[in-house]
Amino acid sequence: MNWFDVDKKGLAQLLERKGKEFVLLELLQNAWDENCTKVTVSLTRIPNSVYARLTVEDDNPDGFADLTHAFTLFAASAKKADAQKRGRFNLGEKLVLALCEEASIVSTRGTVDFDDGGRKIHRTQGSRRESGSAFNGILRMTTEEMQRCLEVARTLLVPPSIETTINGEQLQARSPVTSISASLPTEIANAEGYMVRTRRTSSIEVFETLPGEVAQLYELGIPVVETGDRWHLNICQKIPLNFNRDNVPPSYLAQVRALTVDHMAQKLSTDDANSAWVREAVQKHGAAMANDTIDRLTTLRFGADRVAFDPSDPEANLRAAAHGYTVVHGSQLSRSEWDAVKRAGAILPAGRVTPSAKPYGEGGAQLKVIPNGDWTLEMRKVVEYIGRVAPALTGRQNIPVNIVREIGWPFAATYGPQSPLVLNLGRLGHKWFAGPLEPINNLLLHELGHHFSGNHLSEEYHDALTSLGARLANLALSQPEIFAPMLSCADADQGDEPPVHSPVHT
Ligand SMILES: Nc1ncnc2c1ncn2[C@@H]1O[C@H](COP(=O)(O)OP(=O)(O)O)[C@@H](O)[C@H]1O
Ligand SMILES: [Mg+2]
Repeated sequence: MNWFDVDKKGLAQLLERKGKEFVLLELLQNAWDENCTKVTVSLTRIPNSVYARLTVEDDNPDGFADLTHAFTLFAASAKKADAQKRGRFNLGEKLVLALCEEASIVSTRGTVDFDDGGRKIHRTQGSRRESGSAFNGILRMTTEEMQRCLEVARTLLVPPSIETTINGEQLQARSPVTSISASLPTEIANAEGYMVRTRRTSSIEVFETLPGEVAQLYELGIPVVETGDRWHLNICQKIPLNFNRDNVPPSYLAQVRALTVDHMAQKLSTDDANSAWVREAVQKHGAAMANDTIDRLTTLRFGADRVAFDPSDPEANLRAAAHGYTVVHGSQLSRSEWDAVKRAGAILPAGRVTPSAKPYGEGGAQLKVIPNGDWTLEMRKVVEYIGRVAPALTGRQNIPVNIVREIGWPFAATYGPQSPLVLNLGRLGHKWFAGPLEPINNLLLHELGHHFSGNHLSEEYHDALTSLGARLANLALSQPEIFAPMLSCADADQGDEPPVHSPVHT
């Protein structure tokens, strides 16, 4: 005793929103699922009518294994346990029939006719075909709907082993750019016939989109859903599908995209790297992506030279920017993107790439100070000069000056408003102390600038340097005697020599 009856007209009304092309896709899907080498489709207007005639014929030697499956909704489809066949719900053929005014299925075991009078099965010799099956249907279709069917047919990824023609035009098989082998969720029937989600290794074929095409996700060559990604992706096994066969769970799509990104990273463009599908793939599956992939995506988005904004070293950020690095701020990547980027070492903090100078290091090792008694005459002259000039420039009285000998220490000099001025003979050399005055002033201005700011790239430091320079000039004009002892022969000899390049100091 049957529990259900189907209201054909009501079903047809519900199907109206699907778009008539689904009819073609269902019938092709059924034919491609069979053991055939040739599928022939014809779709033509019945003259002077609102109807079209659709025929889909295949050459599968066995034909329909069970003709009643043509009209029995949800009978156990023999295809549901086979991951490489498209059918599973035992529904598609019936949905097509719901839209038809008249139809017939002619196969090796007989013919089923559907018309106003209902359904009739003929199993006589004369109603059987030698091999293959043909679906013939008459259904209401506008010219636009027919046109759309032909357009959709051209987007199919035809199995290369099945010659498929529509209205005499052979659909061209396309060659994938690449094929990615991967373990992916699929749904197949278990021994009891229940559909279960499981994982299975298969391939993702990646196809270029043709001009005007929107990228789609395909199941075994049949389009399922538009993704708008860079490539068409064809999954070579059953994919987790909704009943409407027009979508997949978002988590499934994210997995497929992530595998594609990981595999195709070198072919992605900057636009791709910034696009939602790639970013989402990284956000959801960045942890499983190769370091090279994350590095490539980061390069596309931020350029080859990039650092992460480093709150622990403000000057480092400015130094990075001044050296042409892109400084990537926290808000430019999501938390999971940062996780992936950090794991892959694709963006290092500015403090590690362009660190601000830290003269005393973490350990704070003692510097080898040259006792005042061992200073040369030139050293004394320089220190005395500093004693005359520095207080006038900075306002700080009695600035202590230490001279150290540290060849391995990278700094020529250091200064801070609470610290002595340290001059490193190991870097400056005796020649610097001997003059001329310009390099001495150059270093002095640099160091005394730190009286006002430790940050070389700050506004304050910049302003300090210009005002110190201006004050030094005033001083030279108003109190030339301060400078007189330093105007040794070395300055007079300079002539047209270019200015001496200052050593590294901080
Ligand atoms: N062209 C065909 N050749 C052989 N058998 C077919 C063909 N088309 C449909 N069938 C059979 O009819 C059944 C019903 O098709 P359908 O309603 O589309 O369900 P599904 O494809 O999900 O199994 C299929 O399972 C298959 O056994
Ligand atoms: Mg089907």
